[in-house]
Amino acid sequence: YNNSVLLNHYTKRFYSIDTLKSKTNNKNVINWVEEQAKLCKPDKIHICDGSNEEFERLTSELVQKGFITKLNPNKRPNSFLARSDPSDVARVESSTFICTKDKVDAGPNNNWKDPKDMKATLNPLFDGCMKGRTMYVMPYSMGPINSPISHVGVQVTDSPFVVCNMKIMTRMGDEALKSIKENDKFVPCLHSVGAPLKEGQKDVAWPCNSKKYIVHYPEEYSIASYGSGYGGNALLGKKCFSLRIASVMARDNGWLAEHMLILGLTNEISGEKKYVAAAFPSACGKTNLAMLTPTIPGWKVETVGDDICWMKFGKDGRLYAINPENGFFGVAPGTSSSSNPNALEAIKKNTLFTNVALTSDNDVWWEGLSTPPMKAVDWHGNEWSPQSGIPAAHPNSRFTAPISQCPVIDPSWNDPKGVPISAIIFGGRRSSTIPLVYQAFDWKHGTFMGASTASELTAAAEGTLGQLRHDPFAMLPFCGYNMGDYFGHWLSMEQNSKDASKLPKIFYVNWFRKNKNGKFLWPGFGENSRVLKWIFERCNAKGEEGAQQSPIGYIPAKKSLDLDGLDISKDSLRELFSIDKNEWLNDLSSMRKYCSQFGNRLPKEIENQMNQLENRLNEY
Ligand code: GTP
Ligand code: MN
Ligand code: MN
Repeated sequence: YNNSVLLNHYTKRFYSIDTLKSKTNNKNVINWVEEQAKLCKPDKIHICDGSNEEFERLTSELVQKGFITKLNPNKRPNSFLARSDPSDVARVESSTFICTKDKVDAGPNNNWKDPKDMKATLNPLFDGCMKGRTMYVMPYSMGPINSPISHVGVQVTDSPFVVCNMKIMTRMGDEALKSIKENDKFVPCLHSVGAPLKEGQKDVAWPCNSKKYIVHYPEEYSIASYGSGYGGNALLGKKCFSLRIASVMARDNGWLAEHMLILGLTNEISGEKKYVAAAFPSACGKTNLAMLTPTIPGWKVETVGDDICWMKFGKDGRLYAINPENGFFGVAPGTSSSSNPNALEAIKKNTLFTNVALTSDNDVWWEGLSTPPMKAVDWHGNEWSPQSGIPAAHPNSRFTAPISQCPVIDPSWNDPKGVPISAIIFGGRRSSTIPLVYQAFDWKHGTFMGASTASELTAAAEGTLGQLRHDPFAMLPFCGYNMGDYFGHWLSMEQNSKDASKLPKIFYVNWFRKNKNGKFLWPGFGENSRVLKWIFERCNAKGEEGAQQSPIGYIPAKKSLDLDGLDISKDSLRELFSIDKNEWLNDLSSMRKYCSQFGNRLPKEIENQMNQLENRLNEY
């Protein structure tokens, strides 16, 4: 490597990081990287420039060593498959920590450890953890370079596969480093797979450690991650920075960092366009909705982001959003030409796959993509056939693809100004109780709706499938501070806004309601454009136009939801919108129980909202 400087193990003399010094005059960056090198003791240091050549070099090395598979270049150019260690397939919430001086500041929603104690635990683990490996230094920008809504980080890692993923998922390399001016702050991100190599020791395809620590220090805006190479644990720009640390930065500075997709919705007849942000828990349909192909004529959806949204107030008093990411890290199973044709298009080239199946012609396959192949190699690397009786792809297998390859990418996706948000949608996977769509009466009620988000568990996190869990704002695994304070922060946005009428309107959706036979009542996917259309029109409506009051909020008035050409029975529709008083009172009592854990950190307004909902239900 031109950029690498060898460490002499024996003299213990430290390498210079001249390449870094020649590229930045930010002393804090240089000092921090030097300290991490002293601690982790890698054999080499490589300062990543983020170029395509660098990506090619790293992927070919991994292929040569047999650690990843190059896919058929005629079918999927410049694309690769990695199989993880079977123990390293998802985020590990039990090993994720928020380290604040005061335990109550992390809240009951987080695992807590005192920062001093945590550092005392981690230091011996990181000490020498990169021996036999290269330390890669990645400066990166979350959001368009130099956007006032963006923030920068520097991650060091000993995983070249993480580097390749970060190149796709963030604006990583020279440009990002240049954007970190002399005195700028950055979020330091230390990552190691925790698998140092002794001299002569053979490396494995997916090094990791059974001990895992995903650690956040909100009071110093910094991150340390140990033992895992999996996306959410190892690509520190994503969940760790863009949500857990950024949520704290947002609280401290009056903005919002959210687990939301961003889409542009155009009425092609009037030419009017609105931007919508939506928060659903993991594996509940953000990536699908973000790239949706409308089934109703005259409407267009364009993608700004599919997972994370940062919103700051513009001079005009509206909330402007950016997608801090530069790529998609999407769930593969279930992605097909019928469920999400745009995602399929986006992953045709330059894509990294983790834990999907390999076909006999060296392409990828997963459950739900197409008719199963006669034989394949499953995510464990074993021979597989449809008769095997086990999934060929891991249920949380993922693709990493550049967002620019999305065929319906929004023209403003990279605009440093961001896009103005007109509506915010919450939702979860609920087989009962929650209707297809309803709207908040006002911001306070909308905040309560976000707070009451709950969902049946999916494969994106550890736990029992199907079990209902409260997941306020779809942020339960990602809020970097006390969730009670977070509710308060959302409420405070109304005061922070110069003009509350310019705040986005708030909605709640549920694509997942089922009938007594366990069948989905709503066809979902492209048909969700009908719901988006109603939301769009509600943003323009005066008062109750197109809506009807119900105890839980505004629901679509008769005929206001466009069902033209949709094959759905009257009974299904009735069930889809039915509001069962007892089911709702049950939900409310579960919410009260859930909220009690926040004690005096629960804003009074949330209690008010619960009381008001109860009164409305009792009068119903
Ligand atoms: P993360 O990326 O983990 O945050 O999750 P996500 O919210 O992006 O989830 P994604 O879009 O990948 O959704 C995955 C699952 O939701 C798949 O099983 C889809 O089939 C299902 N899904 C998405 N939209 C719909 C819908 O409208 N109806 C139904 N029934 N299922 C849907
Ligand atoms: Mn997510
Ligand atoms: Mn997604």
